[in-house]
Amino acid sequence: MDDIMTPTLLNQQENLLAFATRYQQLMLLYEGGIKQITTKLDILNREYHISGQRTPIETIKSRLKTPKSIAGKLKRKHFPITIDSIVENLNDVAGVRVICPYISDIYTVRNLLVNQADVVLCREKDYIKNPKPNGYRSLHLVLQVPVYLSDGVENVRVEVQIRTIAMDFWASLEHELHYKTDGVVPPGIAEELAGCAAVIAETDRRMESIAVRLNQLSADFQEPALGAP
Ligand code: GTP
Ligand code: MG
Repeated sequence: MDDIMTPTLLNQQENLLAFATRYQQLMLLYEGGIKQITTKLDILNREYHISGQRTPIETIKSRLKTPKSIAGKLKRKHFPITIDSIVENLNDVAGVRVICPYISDIYTVRNLLVNQADVVLCREKDYIKNPKPNGYRSLHLVLQVPVYLSDGVENVRVEVQIRTIAMDFWASLEHELHYKTDGVVPPGIAEELAGCAAVIAETDRRMESIAVRLNQLSADFQEPALGAP
């Protein structure tokens, strides 16, 4: 076949190239946003380790939403599938998940991030104080952070989910259930899962109260006895 491009084909190719370049530039910003947040968390984590304190951060995970998932979400929500629409309508292209040992650690991490001068809290949903009817618990933040490019700064939104190890264990199974059953959940399973969420929440609270008592014990142990030289 002749390799001659008609004007329409050339035009299509140019459009595709322009779109692909803008998409890559946008994803670079979101990747930068993820790096900003994960670097802040890494530094805090290292600081706790160096000072010999227990760290409130167990694990840090991150992901960039795939093109398929971005297009799927825009379509589902009846938004146009354009670059501007991604920026305007999606908060979770950049996602960071922080897993903490105890419930109070979640709020410690939240405050450590939100109180930083270059971080803006855009949205907060506390599914720990107000769990979803299915039993889902986590603290969700949408944070805006600056990402510096050669010609200036861009503010980027990053969705941060903060939860305990136990909440994460539950959410993984619940997510798998939806994925595997395509939304049609067999009878009884949702109730069983909601029951597990309640047990897990109670266990989280009990573990925290044991940890507080243990901390107190070690503090008492280290304190010099009254009247000691
Ligand atoms: P969507 O992102 O469209 O869901 O809207 P939203 O921004 O209002 O959502 P929300 O902040 O409630 O949740 C965002 C993310 O939290 C989801 O993409 C999931 O990763 C997680 N999530 C929320 N609800 C559930 C749930 O019931 N089960 C599990 N496993 N994850 C959930
Ligand atoms: Mg989402």
